[in-house]
Amino acid sequence: MNEFDPAVISAVVAHMNGDHPEDNLLIARAFGRPEATESTMIGLDGEAGVWRVTDADGTQDLRVTWPGWPISERAEIRREVVVLYKSACERLGVQPREEHEAAPQGGHAGHPGGHPGGHPHGAGHPHGQGGHPGGHPGGHPHGKAESDGSFSQALREATWGDHSDSEGSTFMEDIMRRRATVEDYAAMVAQHYFVYVALEEASRLLAADPRFAVFHPEALVRLPAIEADLEHLLGPDWRDRIEAVPATEEYVARIRELTAEGWLPGIVAHHYTRYLGDLSGGQMIARAVAQQHGFDGAGVAFYDFAELGGIPEFKAAYRDALNTLGESLDEVEQQRVFDEVRAAYGFNTRTFVDLDRGRAAAATA
Ligand code: HEM
Repeated sequence: MNEFDPAVISAVVAHMNGDHPEDNLLIARAFGRPEATESTMIGLDGEAGVWRVTDADGTQDLRVTWPGWPISERAEIRREVVVLYKSACERLGVQPREEHEAAPQGGHAGHPGGHPGGHPHGAGHPHGQGGHPGGHPGGHPHGKAESDGSFSQALREATWGDHSDSEGSTFMEDIMRRRATVEDYAAMVAQHYFVYVALEEASRLLAADPRFAVFHPEALVRLPAIEADLEHLLGPDWRDRIEAVPATEEYVARIRELTAEGWLPGIVAHHYTRYLGDLSGGQMIARAVAQQHGFDGAGVAFYDFAELGGIPEFKAAYRDALNTLGESLDEVEQQRVFDEVRAAYGFNTRTFVDLDRGRAAAATA
C-alpha cells in the first residue's frame, strides 16, 4: 500500500479540517457512522482516508476506502476526496457544492441551502465539558456553513447556547450516560405526552395553511408512538399514572396561548425546537435508552421516524421551509421567533430540572 510523504498528508489533513470540517462529517455519516456528531480527518494512505469520528457510542477511527484506490499521486488524493464528498452528498440527499470542481482549495462559496452536513458544530458538543458562554466554545468556528445568511442558520446560531443548556442538564446527561432508571425515562416520556398533545393540536389547526403544511407531514406525528411507549413502560393504566411537572404545565400553557393567538411563526418555533431535536439528538437518546434497557422498538417508538423517508433529507427540507418562512418576516418578528425558540429550550431545560427534583424527592421518600 502506498504511503504518502508525511508533509503531503499533513497538508491534506489540515486543509480538510480547516476548510472542510462539514465535509468530514458528511463523509463519516455517509460511510458507516450515520449519527456521527464530530469528524476530523487524521490521516490517509494509498487505499483510504481515515477520520476520527464521534457518535453516541464514543470516538473511533473510520477508514473510508478511496473510490478509485489504489492511488499514489498527490493530485489523486484531491480527486478522491472530491469523489468521496460527492458520493456522501448523494447518499445523504444533500446537494453538493459546485466550488470543488473549479477551485478545490480556493475560497468558499458557503453551503447552499443549509444542509444537515453543514451543521457539524455543537453536534459534537462534549457533554459536561466547559460551559456555554453564549454558545459553547466549539460553537461556530468555521465561517462557511455558519455564514450562509439563511434564517435557519441565524436561528441556530442565536439559540445554540440554550440548546447546550438543555442538552447538558443533569437529567439529560444521566439518560445519555445510561445512568437513569427506566422510571426516570418513563417520567420524561410522560412529559412528552403532555407537550405533544398541545403541539399536535396546534399543528392540526394549522394544517390547512400552506406555510405550515411542509413542516408537518403525517409521518412526523408522534402522539400514537408516545402512547404506545407509555403503555409499554407503565402498563395499560398509564393515563392514571402520569403527571405533568410544573415546567411542563407552563410549556403546554405557552403552546396553547400561541395556538389561541394563531401566531404561526411562534408555533413553528416550538415545532422546530421539539421535532428537529427529536430528529437530531433524539436519535442518540433513543440509542442510549434502547441499549441500556434492552428495548427493541417498543419503548422508544417515539424516536422512530422510518416513515418519514430519510432524516437528513427531511431536516434539509425543514430548514428550507424555515428559510422561506423567515424571509417573509421582518427583523422584529424574526427576533420574536428566536426568542420563542429560546423560551422553548428553557421549558425543556426546566422540565429536566423538575424531573431531577422529582426523582431526588422519590429517592428520599
Ligand atoms: C442529550 C441530549 C441532546 C443531544 C446529544 C443533542 C444533540 C444534537 C445534535 C448533534 C444536533 C445537530 C444535528 C444536526 O445538525 O444534524 C442537535 C440539533 C438540535 N437539537 Fe439537540 N441534542 C440534545 C438535546 C436536545 C433537546 C433537549 C432539545 C430541545 C427540546 C434539542 C433540540 C435540538 C434542535 C431544535 C436541533 C436543531 C438545531 C438546528 O440545526 O437548527 N436537542 N442536537
